[in-house]
Amino acid sequence: MSTPPVNLHLLKSALDGKEKEVVLLILGSGMSQAFDESEYEIIGTFPSLTESTDEKTVQGHPGIVALWNCDGTPILLSLGRRHLYEGIPLDQLTTLIRWAGLLGVGKLMLTNAAGGLNPRFSEGDCMLHRGYIPALLGRHRSRSFGQQLYQNFHSSPSSPVQTSTLLDKFADAASSEGVGVEEGVYAGVTGPNYETAAEIRMLRRMGADAVGMSTITEVEEGMRWGMQRLGLSLITNVLSDTRRRGVSHEEVTDVAASSRERLRKLLEIAVRVLATSE
Ligand code: HPA
Repeated sequence: MSTPPVNLHLLKSALDGKEKEVVLLILGSGMSQAFDESEYEIIGTFPSLTESTDEKTVQGHPGIVALWNCDGTPILLSLGRRHLYEGIPLDQLTTLIRWAGLLGVGKLMLTNAAGGLNPRFSEGDCMLHRGYIPALLGRHRSRSFGQQLYQNFHSSPSSPVQTSTLLDKFADAASSEGVGVEEGVYAGVTGPNYETAAEIRMLRRMGADAVGMSTITEVEEGMRWGMQRLGLSLITNVLSDTRRRGVSHEEVTDVAASSRERLRKLLEIAVRVLATSE
């Protein structure tokens, strides 16, 4: 099993018998901006991508693991994540989830930046995941990728599903606090390219409401450990199959910055709902 990106001793003492209520919260592109550095205690950093450079992570992904106390609930924060298109083997994308699972952490909150496919969505909307499509489209190719997928297939739970009671609880809580949230199906692609017009049309026909380059393998790992899960996408751009307009990573992180307040509120609600559910 890959080396944990955290100081396990610090993590174990922070869990302190509260494993079942602890939430592992993974923050997507630009979303770490929803937190101030003074709010959390750093307990680890992502390992460098290669030994020869100190290159670490994609922009908008600080690569830090930290503890955050959210009104008494200990949260294990992953400020950023790794992606398949960085050349990371499938199983290493989920190292932190596996270590958390081993230590008894029972709740998982996944977030990401995504392109909006549903024509009702606008930039800055948040979408709760009602379902997932592992779409595996994109330009990412590596020699061992096929083999990894095959191995993953054999150890994979059936297709990713969501537990609707938890989703309903979250949607009710957000609505009673007056925070708007959309709902829909998230399609995960490999990237790193943004979608072509033909791919946008296909993803819509498949029933996807938003598309991003992460999360699917994390959902599957959470399912393996029996974790209770919620997933949320921030719609950083809306995709059109007629208007030719490129998307840039800077645009994605800028929208994340300007949606900071709403995102933060929704994260706090999600953490509360997860931490108090049986
Ligand atoms: N496509 C894929 N991933 C994304 C997008 C997109 O349009 N926006 C943010 N992440």
